[in-house]
Amino acid sequence: MRALTGDPLLRVRSLSKTFPGLTALDGVNLTVHSGEIVALVGQNGSGKSTLVKTLAGLYSPDPGSVIELIPRAGESEQPPRLYFIHQDLGLIPTLSAVENLDLGKPHRLGGLLPTHARRERRHARELIAELGASIEVDEPVQGLSASERAIIAIVRALDGWEGRRHVLVLDEPTAALPSQEAEKLFSAVRGVAAQGAGVVFISHHLDEVMQLADRVVALRGGRVVADEPIEDVDRASLVRMIVGQELSAAESSARELGDVALQVVDLYGEEIDGVSLEVRAGEIVGVTGILGSGREELASLIFGQNRPHAGTIRVHGRPLAAGRPRASIAAGVGFVPADRPALGAVMTLTAKENLTLPALRTVTGVLGWISRRGEARDADAWAGEVELEPRNVDRPLTLFSGGNQQKIVLAKWLRTSPKVLLLDEPSQGVDVGAKAALYGLISRSAEAGAAVLVSSSDTEELVALCDRVLVMRDGLVVTEVAGADLTEEALLADPLSDSARFERSGSEK
Ligand SMILES: Nc1ncnc2c1ncn2[C@@H]1O[C@H](COP(=O)(O)OP(=O)(O)OP(=O)(O)O)[C@@H](O)[C@H]1O
Ligand SMILES: [Mg+2]
Repeated sequence: MRALTGDPLLRVRSLSKTFPGLTALDGVNLTVHSGEIVALVGQNGSGKSTLVKTLAGLYSPDPGSVIELIPRAGESEQPPRLYFIHQDLGLIPTLSAVENLDLGKPHRLGGLLPTHARRERRHARELIAELGASIEVDEPVQGLSASERAIIAIVRALDGWEGRRHVLVLDEPTAALPSQEAEKLFSAVRGVAAQGAGVVFISHHLDEVMQLADRVVALRGGRVVADEPIEDVDRASLVRMIVGQELSAAESSARELGDVALQVVDLYGEEIDGVSLEVRAGEIVGVTGILGSGREELASLIFGQNRPHAGTIRVHGRPLAAGRPRASIAAGVGFVPADRPALGAVMTLTAKENLTLPALRTVTGVLGWISRRGEARDADAWAGEVELEPRNVDRPLTLFSGGNQQKIVLAKWLRTSPKVLLLDEPSQGVDVGAKAALYGLISRSAEAGAAVLVSSSDTEELVALCDRVLVMRDGLVVTEVAGADLTEEALLADPLSDSARFERSGSEK
């Protein structure tokens, strides 16, 4: 535990923000002190990102709201500044990591001079290495994985202001970040707090909140409903703060396993180095592994979003055309990618349009307008199933909170009754209450005969959802954990011991 926190850096009073027909923030009071880490929690749509965006000046607050940045008493020092990592990261996809890091730096004059560029590149690599990653810094960031991009955004926010009394605000920085990388982020965050910064940290991962926060502030419906030092908070009270009630234990369903629905043989890709696996109808199989293990590539390779270098994929015995997402969809394969805005959703379309996208071809021209009306009813029913908030499917996707966008992306595939469902970080950004509902829906999809492959960095999720979990390392499946052995501890076990076990078993790479 850290020492008592210092003087206030940021004070928010009576902060309100109304959108047409919707009060997103309602009289919020919040003070952030030097040296403290405040966890901001709350259900999807409770107003967390709206608070962040209002602090950032992206939204103007309602009249009467006060946002104050407080210089140290008696000193002529500049007031503290606010630094942000937004939920959507705010990177420019067509620029490289180096260029993204360089944006917003005052010293930049026109184009990068060659010597300057070399220095910047080295600097970028060093910063990234501090977070324990190794990332190609010259390629457009759109080619990077979701977690690699999160690391770039984090590096950009942390660059060059250590040791100052500023406020760092992180809106779900770890939503798609494997736990090893998240650990490194946490030590960086603890580091800046220890040097006198104030930190506001938003996360739906309760473990992270318990681990990192000095104080927990909970929002519900745009209001602060709790503000407690971490000493007074345990996991159960944290859930109550967020959801407003206890969570009922999820009932585990006994599923009948059918024939092999998904068969992958000797699959090779950028990082995947010869993976074979089978998932039976009705089965939920998890995949985990650190950054670079191949875990992040697997689902997109099977679906055909990325083209495999070699390998065979069969759905109920029929080979799938490699690298052709349309053919995969036609064969009954659904895919929820980790990269929601880029691949999973069309942000400018409404929730209803997004929900009906994959099924569109079966509807148009065949059944005519009546079924379109049916589609609309069906879309609304699914919005109810995933607890969409607000439950208005005619809103554009951009206006929904992050977690609610994720619910729509998941629902759009669940409603196609897929034969094979590939899920990459399926509940990223979804709150603890809605997560339970989503897990129930995924189980029901399996009960109805889908073969489900879940790639996730969230070990709690894998244990809650899966029949067995494959652990990947260096492009290979090195271990499988199932039954009574399937615990978070087993999944988080030192990957070296996994490889040791793997080598002992006599296989060769
Ligand atoms: N630009 C906007 N126009 C209209 N409504 C908006 C806008 N931005 C957010 N909202 C609404 O404000 C409410 C709060 O959204 P916000 O994004 O702050 O939630 P959140 O707490 O960050 O949720 P999540 O955990 O899902 O990210 C939601 O009901 C959302 O639909
Ligand atoms: Mg948000």
